[in-house]
Amino acid sequence: MVLRRGLATVATVGIGALGAACMLPRDPPPGASGPMIYEYQNCANCHGEDRRGKTQGPPLTNLAEHWTRANLIQYLADPKSWIDRTPRLRKMRSEYSGEMSSYGNLTYAERKVLAEWLLTEASD
Ligand code: HEC
Repeated sequence: MVLRRGLATVATVGIGALGAACMLPRDPPPGASGPMIYEYQNCANCHGEDRRGKTQGPPLTNLAEHWTRANLIQYLADPKSWIDRTPRLRKMRSEYSGEMSSYGNLTYAERKVLAEWLLTEASD
Protein backbone atom coordinates (compact mmCIF):
# COMPACT_ATOMS: atom_id res chain seq x y z
CA MET A 1 0.00 0.00 0.00
CA VAL A 2 2.69 2.44 1.02
CA LEU A 3 4.69 1.59 -2.07
CA ARG A 4 1.68 2.04 -4.36
CA ARG A 5 0.84 5.39 -2.88
CA GLY A 6 4.45 6.43 -3.34
CA LEU A 7 4.43 5.48 -7.00
CA ALA A 8 1.16 7.27 -7.59
CA THR A 9 2.64 10.44 -6.11
CA VAL A 10 5.76 10.19 -8.26
CA ALA A 11 3.61 9.64 -11.35
CA THR A 12 1.33 12.60 -10.57
CA VAL A 13 4.19 14.99 -9.83
CA GLY A 14 6.08 13.76 -12.90
CA ILE A 15 3.17 14.30 -15.29
CA GLY A 16 2.42 17.69 -13.72
CA ALA A 17 6.00 18.87 -14.20
CA LEU A 18 6.10 17.59 -17.76
CA GLY A 19 2.83 19.33 -18.58
CA ALA A 20 4.08 22.64 -17.25
CA ALA A 21 7.51 22.37 -18.87
CA CYS A 22 6.46 21.38 -22.37
CA MET A 23 2.87 22.00 -23.31
CA LEU A 24 2.24 20.28 -26.61
CA PRO A 25 0.86 22.43 -29.42
CA ARG A 26 -2.87 21.96 -29.88
CA ASP A 27 -4.95 22.34 -33.04
CA PRO A 28 -6.65 25.74 -32.93
CA PRO A 29 -10.48 25.64 -32.99
CA PRO A 30 -12.19 26.46 -36.32
CA GLY A 31 -12.26 30.20 -37.00
CA ALA A 32 -9.53 30.94 -34.43
CA SER A 33 -8.05 34.45 -34.41
CA GLY A 34 -4.34 35.19 -34.89
CA PRO A 35 -3.65 35.51 -31.16
CA MET A 36 -5.50 32.24 -30.49
CA ILE A 37 -3.49 30.34 -33.10
CA TYR A 38 -0.31 31.84 -31.61
CA GLU A 39 -1.38 30.58 -28.21
CA TYR A 40 -2.55 27.12 -29.30
CA GLN A 41 0.64 26.50 -31.29
CA ASN A 42 2.90 27.65 -28.41
CA CYS A 43 4.67 30.31 -30.47
CA ALA A 44 5.14 32.21 -27.19
CA ASN A 45 7.52 29.51 -25.91
CA CYS A 46 10.16 31.02 -28.17
CA HIS A 47 8.83 34.45 -29.17
CA GLY A 48 7.26 35.50 -25.86
CA GLU A 49 3.63 36.16 -24.84
CA ASP A 50 4.05 39.77 -25.95
CA ARG A 51 5.91 38.83 -29.19
CA ARG A 52 8.98 40.68 -27.97
CA GLY A 53 11.31 37.71 -28.16
CA LYS A 54 13.13 35.42 -25.70
CA THR A 55 16.49 33.64 -25.71
CA GLN A 56 14.83 30.94 -27.85
CA GLY A 57 13.45 33.17 -30.59
CA PRO A 58 13.54 36.69 -32.06
CA PRO A 59 10.94 39.41 -31.47
CA LEU A 60 8.03 39.33 -33.90
CA THR A 61 7.67 43.09 -34.22
CA ASN A 62 8.14 45.27 -37.31
CA LEU A 63 7.65 42.22 -39.51
CA ALA A 64 6.07 44.34 -42.25
CA GLU A 65 9.57 45.73 -42.92
CA HIS A 66 10.64 42.29 -44.13
CA TRP A 67 7.55 40.36 -45.17
CA THR A 68 4.62 40.61 -47.51
CA ARG A 69 1.56 38.72 -46.38
CA ALA A 70 1.97 36.10 -49.13
CA ASN A 71 5.62 35.44 -48.24
CA LEU A 72 4.87 35.15 -44.55
CA ILE A 73 2.10 32.62 -45.22
CA GLN A 74 4.65 30.52 -47.15
CA TYR A 75 7.39 30.98 -44.58
CA LEU A 76 5.20 29.64 -41.76
CA ALA A 77 4.65 26.43 -43.72
CA ASP A 78 8.30 26.00 -44.73
CA PRO A 79 10.71 28.20 -42.76
CA LYS A 80 13.72 26.09 -43.67
CA SER A 81 13.63 26.96 -47.37
CA TRP A 82 13.54 30.68 -46.47
CA ILE A 83 16.31 30.40 -43.90
CA ASP A 84 18.57 28.72 -46.45
CA ARG A 85 18.29 31.67 -48.84
CA THR A 86 17.86 34.62 -46.43
CA PRO A 87 21.04 35.80 -44.65
CA ARG A 88 19.04 37.80 -42.06
CA LEU A 89 17.15 34.64 -40.98
CA ARG A 90 20.31 32.52 -41.00
CA LYS A 91 21.97 35.00 -38.68
CA MET A 92 19.02 34.80 -36.29
CA ARG A 93 19.24 31.04 -36.27
CA SER A 94 22.73 31.27 -34.80
CA GLU A 95 21.71 33.95 -32.29
CA TYR A 96 18.73 32.19 -30.72
CA SER A 97 18.66 28.83 -28.99
CA GLY A 98 15.36 27.68 -30.53
CA GLU A 99 14.72 26.50 -34.05
CA MET A 100 11.71 27.73 -35.96
CA SER A 101 9.45 24.77 -36.67
CA SER A 102 7.42 24.27 -39.80
CA TYR A 103 3.71 25.01 -39.40
CA GLY A 104 2.50 23.15 -42.45
CA ASN A 105 0.09 21.48 -40.02
CA LEU A 106 -1.94 24.70 -40.07
CA THR A 107 -4.33 25.22 -42.97
CA TYR A 108 -3.68 28.00 -45.49
CA ALA A 109 -6.58 29.95 -43.96
CA GLU A 110 -5.09 29.62 -40.47
CA ARG A 111 -1.64 30.73 -41.64
CA LYS A 112 -3.26 33.68 -43.42
CA VAL A 113 -5.06 34.83 -40.25
CA LEU A 114 -1.84 34.35 -38.27
CA ALA A 115 0.30 36.23 -40.83
CA GLU A 116 -2.15 39.15 -40.97
CA TRP A 117 -2.01 39.48 -37.20
CA LEU A 118 1.80 39.14 -37.12
CA LEU A 119 2.11 41.96 -39.65
CA THR A 120 0.32 44.32 -37.29
CA GLU A 121 2.41 45.90 -34.56
CA ALA A 122 2.77 43.97 -31.31
CA SER A 123 0.83 45.91 -28.68
CA ASP A 124 2.66 47.45 -25.72
C1 HEC B 1 11.22 26.35 -30.83
C2 HEC B 1 11.23 27.79 -30.92
C3 HEC B 1 10.25 28.47 -31.85
C4 HEC B 1 8.88 28.30 -31.93
C5 HEC B 1 7.99 27.37 -31.11
C6 HEC B 1 8.42 29.22 -32.95
N1 HEC B 1 9.47 29.91 -33.46
FE1 HEC B 1 9.37 31.37 -34.87
N2 HEC B 1 11.40 31.50 -34.90
C7 HEC B 1 12.26 30.84 -34.05
C8 HEC B 1 13.63 31.18 -34.39
C9 HEC B 1 14.89 30.68 -33.69
C10 HEC B 1 13.56 32.06 -35.48
C11 HEC B 1 14.74 32.68 -36.25
C12 HEC B 1 14.89 31.97 -37.60
C13 HEC B 1 15.25 30.52 -37.39
O1 HEC B 1 16.13 30.21 -36.61
O2 HEC B 1 14.64 29.65 -37.98
C14 HEC B 1 12.13 32.26 -35.76
C15 HEC B 1 11.64 33.09 -36.75
C16 HEC B 1 10.31 33.43 -36.90
C17 HEC B 1 9.81 34.44 -37.81
C18 HEC B 1 10.65 35.32 -38.71
C19 HEC B 1 11.07 36.55 -37.92
C20 HEC B 1 11.66 37.66 -38.76
O3 HEC B 1 12.25 38.58 -38.16
O4 HEC B 1 11.53 37.64 -39.98
C21 HEC B 1 8.45 34.45 -37.69
C22 HEC B 1 7.48 35.33 -38.45
C23 HEC B 1 8.11 33.45 -36.71
N3 HEC B 1 9.26 32.85 -36.25
C24 HEC B 1 6.82 33.16 -36.32
C25 HEC B 1 6.48 32.11 -35.47
C26 HEC B 1 5.12 31.71 -35.20
C27 HEC B 1 3.87 32.41 -35.71
C28 HEC B 1 5.19 30.61 -34.39
C29 HEC B 1 4.05 29.72 -33.92
C30 HEC B 1 3.12 29.26 -34.95
C31 HEC B 1 6.59 30.35 -34.13
N4 HEC B 1 7.34 31.28 -34.82
C32 HEC B 1 7.10 29.36 -33.33
C33 HEC B 1 11.90 29.98 -33.04
C34 HEC B 1 10.60 29.49 -32.83
